Amino acid sequence: MTERALQLVLLGPPASGKGTQGELLASRFGIPKISTGDMLRAARAAGTALGREADGYMSTGRLVPDSVVIGLVAERLTEADAERGFILDGFPRTVPQAEALESLLERRGTPLTHVLQIDVPHDLLVERATLRRTDKRTGQIYHLKYSLPPPDAELEHRADDREETVRRRLDEYDAMTAALLPFYGQRGLLRRVDGVGKPEEVTARISNELEQ
Ligand code: AP5
Repeated sequence: MTERALQLVLLGPPASGKGTQGELLASRFGIPKISTGDMLRAARAAGTALGREADGYMSTGRLVPDSVVIGLVAERLTEADAERGFILDGFPRTVPQAEALESLLERRGTPLTHVLQIDVPHDLLVERATLRRTDKRTGQIYHLKYSLPPPDAELEHRADDREETVRRRLDEYDAMTAALLPFYGQRGLLRRVDGVGKPEEVTARISNELEQ
């Protein structure tokens, strides 16, 4: 592990485990996990103008416009808890978002320390997404086959986790987000981990990469 505060971007296709691993790392390092998906869902639930705009994109599996998410992240990173490091989950997702993040962190004088891609084959991702459930009280992520919820959980099924929408999200990932791999590869920041296996096995692989 480097001496600098961890400033990590988690990349990976929909349902590859970014949220699951991001939560574990955030509690281990005592830094926030910042998920643009969670922020957009919160805005939608609160019925804000931004949430209503985002809903049209999210419910059909398309990316929300860059300007909207860049603004959200820029504001979130000014909060005190992000000063000692952060884990970005689901941002950046396009090259313009990555460029905006790079300029923002350059201005703070704290560049990213790691970019980690979680690799999972597409056929497994559909099963991971369609059987995902989230406890709406705690935000804890479960899976009806691999990570069973407790009986008292108040489970929610994300609207964009229907199979047809998941496939659309995977296409968007291939079309837009995969371009980030060469972007971060050229900067010498990119590491990749195999995301197949038990969550704790994936965590061990990630820890190993972060310690290099
Ligand atoms: P977002 O919420 O970011 O969705 P995503 O990237 O598609 O990722 P997911 O949340 O689906 O999956 P995950 O990788 O976090 O996996 P998880 O840990 O939950 O974005 C949603 C939408 O918001 C986008 O489609 C877009 O419209 C918009 N948006 C967000 N950010 C944007 C941006 N920057 N720009 C533009 N638009 C943006 O795991 C999945 C399931 O698998 C769970 O059930 C879990 O329990 C299970 N699981 C996890 N690990 C394992 C394992 N090792 N083995 C078995 N099961 C596992």
